[in-house]
Amino acid sequence: MGARPLLNRRLAGLGTTIFAEMSALAAATGSINLGQGFPDTDGPREIAEAAAEAVLTGRGNQYPPGPGIPGLRTAIAEHQQRFYGLAYDPDSEVLVTAGATEAIAAALLALLEPGDEVIAFEPFYDSYAACIAMAGAVRVPLTLRQPSFRPDLDELRSLITPRTRLLLINTPHNPTGTVLTPAELAAIAELAVEHDLLVITDEVYEHLVFATGHHPIAGLPGMRERTVAISSAGKTFSFTGWKVGWVTASAPLVSAVRTAKQYLTYVSAGPFQYAVAEALHLPDGYFDALRADLLRKRDLLADGLSAAGFQVFSPEGTYFITTDITPLGEKDGLEFCRSLPERCGVVAIPNVVFYDNTEAGRSLVRFTFCKRGEVLREAVERLGRL
Ligand SMILES: Cc1ncc(COP(=O)(O)O)c(C=O)c1O
Repeated sequence: MGARPLLNRRLAGLGTTIFAEMSALAAATGSINLGQGFPDTDGPREIAEAAAEAVLTGRGNQYPPGPGIPGLRTAIAEHQQRFYGLAYDPDSEVLVTAGATEAIAAALLALLEPGDEVIAFEPFYDSYAACIAMAGAVRVPLTLRQPSFRPDLDELRSLITPRTRLLLINTPHNPTGTVLTPAELAAIAELAVEHDLLVITDEVYEHLVFATGHHPIAGLPGMRERTVAISSAGKTFSFTGWKVGWVTASAPLVSAVRTAKQYLTYVSAGPFQYAVAEALHLPDGYFDALRADLLRKRDLLADGLSAAGFQVFSPEGTYFITTDITPLGEKDGLEFCRSLPERCGVVAIPNVVFYDNTEAGRSLVRFTFCKRGEVLREAVERLGRL
């Protein structure tokens, strides 16, 4: 082949995701994987049975409708009403996607022109950078800085230019666990309205909030018509492999996102859509128990990490804890994570890979606590040997 690189310029440097590298390392070394965010216990048995039943009774085994099966779109609309008092029309304002990941890709590909600027909180979930790049747009990071990891709203204002097309926010935020407050959301919404910006909001951890409650920005004045809200079943119902996600937005926005989505996967996961429709109707007790269980695990891992010498930033939401390794005499999170399996049989993720401004994330390392209690206790014991 000639001198021209095979990978196009837009994707150069994006490489293999850190999750692939670290999960492979966990498997190769037999380490406890506190890297990638997937639970080691499946979601409710009755929901798994609903999926099996759908397969066996021939529901969803052939191409389901492009926007998602009507029963799931209705369940999503009812979920938005039940938890947030937001009304969406299941036919024109809800779109089912292959996980939140496809929703993010379709929304960015649909709404961006080459050269548009996207302001996103950094550290950012890694697919944001890749999808902004695939759209030929420019990412502009707003760095969340330790110890609070809260957005500096004056800085946000200063980053807006005539080329800014959209704000990409994520609350509860992976990896820092920051949950945006009503006041912060109101300030962001005001800027969006003032500068006529679109907002994509990634809310996949909406039910994993410990004290403060989750507040969707779409409910604020002037936001409904400019917000694409994204969520998914993976985190809420502990079925991350099912890849059922969704978009709720105004009809024109859903229509734009659907245009891109139909050429990415067209449709996905037919039988799982029936099961997720049932999951969304689970009683409040399910959501409360999920939160209570994760809160106990958060505290177990946070205490263990503190005792092992890490600086711990306790998260308000998500199932991740960000730590600083500086008190351990370490500086480089990537090096630290690559050596951790050998040193003590635990895998974690270096936050630096989620930053453009790498200095801000160099010594930060993320651990997940969506694992069984005995696994977390064993991990804590191993980390104590550091
Ligand atoms: C912030 C964020 N958005 C989206 C996703 C992906 O969601 P899904 O598995 O539904 O595609 C994840 C998964 O880790 C995430 O952390």
